[in-house]
Amino acid sequence: MATSSTNTANSTPGPLHPLLTGGGEYPFVKLERKRKELQDPQYATINFGMGDPREETPAFIREAMKAAVPAVSSYPATIGKASLRAACSAWLQRRYGVVTDPEVHVLPVNGTKEAVYNTPFACIDPAGAKRIVIIPTPAYPVYESGTRFAGAEPYFVPLRSEDGWRFNPARIPDDVWARTALLWINSPHNPTGSVLDMGQGAAVVTLARKWGFWVASDEAYADLYFDGGPPSSLLQHGLENVIGMFTLSKRSAMTGYRSGFIAGDARLIDAMRKHRPHPGVATPDFIQDAAVAAWNDDAHTADQRAIYARKRELFLQEFARRGWQVEASEATFYLWMRVPEGDDEAFVEQLLKLGIVTTPGSYLGPGGEGFVRWALVPTFAQCEEAIARLSQLQVAGSKEAK
Ligand SMILES: Cc1ncc(COP(=O)(O)O)c(C=O)c1O
Repeated sequence: MATSSTNTANSTPGPLHPLLTGGGEYPFVKLERKRKELQDPQYATINFGMGDPREETPAFIREAMKAAVPAVSSYPATIGKASLRAACSAWLQRRYGVVTDPEVHVLPVNGTKEAVYNTPFACIDPAGAKRIVIIPTPAYPVYESGTRFAGAEPYFVPLRSEDGWRFNPARIPDDVWARTALLWINSPHNPTGSVLDMGQGAAVVTLARKWGFWVASDEAYADLYFDGGPPSSLLQHGLENVIGMFTLSKRSAMTGYRSGFIAGDARLIDAMRKHRPHPGVATPDFIQDAAVAAWNDDAHTADQRAIYARKRELFLQEFARRGWQVEASEATFYLWMRVPEGDDEAFVEQLLKLGIVTTPGSYLGPGGEGFVRWALVPTFAQCEEAIARLSQLQVAGSKEAK
């Protein structure tokens, strides 16, 4: 009998999933690699790259979680606790006037990231005729990875400065609409901070009902707005064909808790409910109790907005002083800055030398070239420190460098 040690060809495990070996590097992994290569060791890192707030989670939310940790732990249920679904439903009504039935229209998720990733698995037949997922870009990268892993076909639509960085449905040909299973909308938008108005939202929803596709409306930044006032939700145009995604990560500084919810068309919520036991993404009960406290309170969200408004003002003034233009940036904690010399990667590399991490627009998809995204998530003191460091920056086109 031949031993396996003499037959190395046969003992090699089969190939890994091609999407894991195709050479694509997650943008923030690449950025971190570059930071390590370039950063002058005299500087501590100030990270405006990933949208991970450095603000404290309000104490009453932390206390709610601590009080909920049980002595005996059980598997949580996919549908979540009735108290959480009720709190989410009440928030939708307070925030948008949208009425939902917590039993059929609302489902907790472990942060919207996994919901974004898992949605195409629930609503697309990988062998069907309708398997296009429309992704306006630049974009949150998970729209694409969820689409590809689910065996669907991404169709990228670069957003444009002349459209105010808002999705313009007129740029999609009819033969694409006819094969579309899912459209991703993200308003307020990461990375540009653009916001769809009620008319633009209504147009999208009308198209979804005309052509027969799902709209997944990622509204992760719903509560981070400034002078423009509270952005509307796609759910305000009715739940049919629409699912909205909402998170505590940004409004309540709770990225580490992994807690959000999805709400909308009962048919898609039901499909998600059936799919979700497979990847096992039910939210732990003690996280749900913290989430109930967070969704039931709006005062702390106003405090978060005030924190970002102050940082935003600081940077807008500094950019104006330097002649650096900001586009869109109406809501969210992002500023979408046009790079003076046009090469976003080179500009970001100059900042990395100073320990300042920002994201090149081109890392976030077609259309982002020539722009840099600043996530105003470091503390106010760090923001001031970063601005002081900018005086060391050697970039043509900056008033300082001339
Ligand atoms: C547009 C967008 N959607 C979803 C998420 C995921 O947020 P979370 O999983 O923390 O809810 C993010 C995170 O940055 C985001 O920018």
